[in-house]
Order: sequence, then C-alpha cells, then structure tokens
Amino acid sequence: MPEQIQTHAGRVALVTGGGRGIGAAIAAMLAARGARVAVLDADAALAREAAAACGGLAERCDVTDRASVDSACAAVEAALGPVDILVNNAGISPKPGGRASPIWEMPAEEWDQVIAVNLTGCWNLARRLTPGMVARKRGWIVNMASVSGKAWTPLVGSHYSATKSALIGLTRHWAGELGPHGVLVNAICPGRIMTPMARLVAPAVNEAIIANTPLGRGGEPEEVARAACFLTGPDAGFVTGTTLDVAGGWMMT
Ligand SMILES: NC(=O)c1ccc[n+]([C@@H]2O[C@H](COP(=O)([O-])OP(=O)(O)OC[C@H]3O[C@@H](n4cnc5c(N)ncnc54)[C@H](O)[C@@H]3O)[C@@H](O)[C@H]2O)c1
Repeated sequence: MPEQIQTHAGRVALVTGGGRGIGAAIAAMLAARGARVAVLDADAALAREAAAACGGLAERCDVTDRASVDSACAAVEAALGPVDILVNNAGISPKPGGRASPIWEMPAEEWDQVIAVNLTGCWNLARRLTPGMVARKRGWIVNMASVSGKAWTPLVGSHYSATKSALIGLTRHWAGELGPHGVLVNAICPGRIMTPMARLVAPAVNEAIIANTPLGRGGEPEEVARAACFLTGPDAGFVTGTTLDVAGGWMMT
C-alpha cells in the first residue's frame, strides 16, 4: 500500500480542522507515511478522536484566535519539534436553513466569521510558523481552497467563495516570498467531497453536483489526502505556487 511508504519520515506536520472530514484524512495519511502529526481543531473532542486514530498529538485550537494559535503551536513544537508541514484546512461554509445566504440576506456576523476562519485563520498559522521554516530553510504549506474559489456556484455564499479565491492568491504570494527560503506553498481545490460539511445541504443538491461531475461521483476525503501528501512529500520538490483540483472534473476552469 502506498500509505506504508515512509515518504514523510522525519517531518512534523500540523493540520488545522483535523478533527474530522478532509483534515482527519490528511492527518491519518501523513501519519501512515511516517510524519509526526499534530491534529488541531476548535472542537477538542474531535481533535482527540482523530489524533488517537492516527497516533498523533491533539491540540484544541481555534484558528481565529491568535492566542489559541500561538499556544497550540508552542505545545506542538515542545512535543514533536519544529513544524515542517502546515496544512491550513480548517474552514466553514454556513448554510442557514440548508442553503447559502445571498448577499441581501447575509448577516454581517456570518460574513465576519467566514473571513476569520477561512482566510485570517490561515494567515494566523502561517504568521506563527513561517519564521521557523525560513530560519531552517525547510517547509511545506498547503492551503485548502475550493473549486468555488475559481468559478461561480450558488451552493456557497459570497463569503466562502471570496475566502477561497483569496487563498489561491495568498498561495501564489507566499510561494513567491517563501520559495527563496526553501518553503513550498500550494493550494488544493476540492470539488464535492463527502464529509459532514457536504451534508449541510439536501441530498438532492449533492446528486445534482454528481450529475455534473465527469467522474460521476463525490470524492472521498482520502482522495484529497493523497494530494496533500503529494504536495508535502518528496515527489513535489519543484512544485510551488500551484493549485491542484481534486474535483472529478466538476467546475473545470
Ligand atoms: N467537503 C467539501 O465538499 C469541500 C469542498 C471544497 C473545499 N472544502 C474545504 O476543505 C476543508 C475541510 O472541509 P470538510 O468538508 O472536511 O469540513 P468539515 O466541516 O467536515 O470539517 C471541518 C473541521 O474544521 C473544524 N473547524 C471549524 N472551525 C474551526 C476553527 N475556527 N478553528 C479550528 N478548527 C475549526 C471543525 O471543528 C471540523 O472538525 C475546508 O476548508 C473546506 O472549505 C471542502
């Protein structure tokens, strides 16, 4: 099994929103490939469960709270050593009543919260961890964007697509800044991946997405995890500043 090849031995990885869904699958696959893994999640119980499943370290961390980010990162460094791999995966996509709010109905608090988690949260982690990566001339960052950051879909709110577009831009910018210092930065754009987030909408909505997906199915979290392992492993040594769709061909641009 490819997971058993120790491509990530000697690397310390930190995954935000790692308590369930895509993040939990990434944490598990990085651990199976030899990384020492920290699972960070705003939900401490989810973090503990996912970390226990992969032999990783659990830390409660709300990515919007800089004090929480700083203390969780310090705890990870103390327990596992300097962080080599940052997977900025935590994200939310509010759908009150099962659908995304259009701009004329969206509460300002909802806008602020999505920007805080999906965008500023990634910046908070990178701000805390990149000084060490630059000093060591070694690091890998993966930002979890979305195909909805590249093309329009009514399935998500304007806050969500704005943050995912921003992550694609941030990825290119950080790749440019950090490349000369030996740090690689890439983004993943998942399509419909069958996680608790995907189940916030009615089953008919997911069926419609699948009908428009050339590969004819939703993706599994493990399929995104394989992309994250590629982008943080030895096979992607000359890959930086790119976005990799893991979407079965849905919303190709
Ligand atoms: N599932 C999809 O179809 C899909 C598609 C495109 C992109 N994505 C992106 O992939 C990432 C993971 O999505 P998922 O489907 O696994 O979602 P999910 O809702 O199943 O899991 C998200 C995890 O993030 C945690 N989290 C939420 N807010 C947090 C915060 N402030 N600080 C720390 N942790 C927090 C949650 O507790 C949860 O464990 C997100 O960035 C999402 O936008 C998902």
